[in-house]
Amino acid sequence: MPEGRLAAFHTTPTFKLRHDPKARFARAARLRLGSAARGNPAGEDRMADRTLTVVSICGSLRKSSYNRMVMQALPGLAPETMRISEAPPFDAFPLYNADLQAASGFPAPVTALADALRAADGVIIVTPEYNFGIPGGLKNAIDWVSRLPNQPFAGKPVALQSASPGPLGGGRVQYELRRSMVFLDALVLNKPEIFIGNCAQRIDQATAEITDAATRDFIGQQLAAFAGFIGAHGARR
Ligand SMILES: Cc1cc2nc3c(=O)[nH]c(=O)nc-3n(C[C@H](O)[C@H](O)[C@H](O)COP(=O)(O)O)c2cc1C
Repeated sequence: MPEGRLAAFHTTPTFKLRHDPKARFARAARLRLGSAARGNPAGEDRMADRTLTVVSICGSLRKSSYNRMVMQALPGLAPETMRISEAPPFDAFPLYNADLQAASGFPAPVTALADALRAADGVIIVTPEYNFGIPGGLKNAIDWVSRLPNQPFAGKPVALQSASPGPLGGGRVQYELRRSMVFLDALVLNKPEIFIGNCAQRIDQATAEITDAATRDFIGQQLAAFAGFIGAHGARR
C-alpha cells in the first residue's frame, strides 16, 4: 500500500462504540480497589473523583516543534479527572557515559526528571521520529533515568503520541519506544494510537493550535482511554 494511503490515525473501531470515559473510569476504579470497593459506592466515588497527575515529555528540543505544540494542547483535551503538566526538561543532560555516572553520580536534571516520573500516575511521550527511530536527546534522557535505582518507568502507565509533516506521523518511532519501554517494565497503552501525519496541515504554526477537529477528537479519546488504563493498572510509586 503506498504510504499516502495510510490513515493519519489508527484507532480501534470498537473503542468508539464502547467509548464512555466515565463508565470506563468507574469500572477501572472498581478493578483497582478490588473487593473492598464492591458494595461501597462511597469508596468507588472517591476513586472515580480522584485527580490523576500525568507528566508529559516532548522528544523534540526545537522551539517551534509541532510535537511540543501537541504536548501543550493536551491539558485542554484531557478528561476532567486528569491533570497534565510538562516534566522537567532533559536538554541539559550530558551524553550518557557510565564513567561519568561512576565519577560524579547522577546530574541534578536527571534526578529531577526521574522524581517527576516516579511521582506521576502516568507519563505521555510526544515525540518526532528521527531516521525511523527515537531522537537522540530523548533516548539519552531515557538511558540516564533507566540507570537510577527505583527505576522510574517500572510499572508506570505510559501513552505515546507522535507528529510528523510526513504521511505516517512517526509510527516507527513509537514501535522503537515501545521496545525500550518493554525493557524498562513500563505499562504502555496499546490503543488508541496517535500518529499525527501531515501535521503541518493540522497544526497552525503561528498560533500553535491544533486546527483539525478530528485530530483533537482522537487525542481526547486516547487521553480518556489512558485515564481508564491508569485506573485499571495503577502506577507503582
Ligand atoms: C534528524 C532528522 C531525522 C528525521 N527523520 C524523520 C523520520 O524518520 N520520519 C519522519 O516522519 N520525519 C523525520 N524527520 C522530519 C521531522 O518529522 C520533522 O522535522 C518534524 O518537524 C520534527 O518534529 P518537531 O516539529 O516536533 O521538531 C526528521 C528530521 C530530522 C531533523
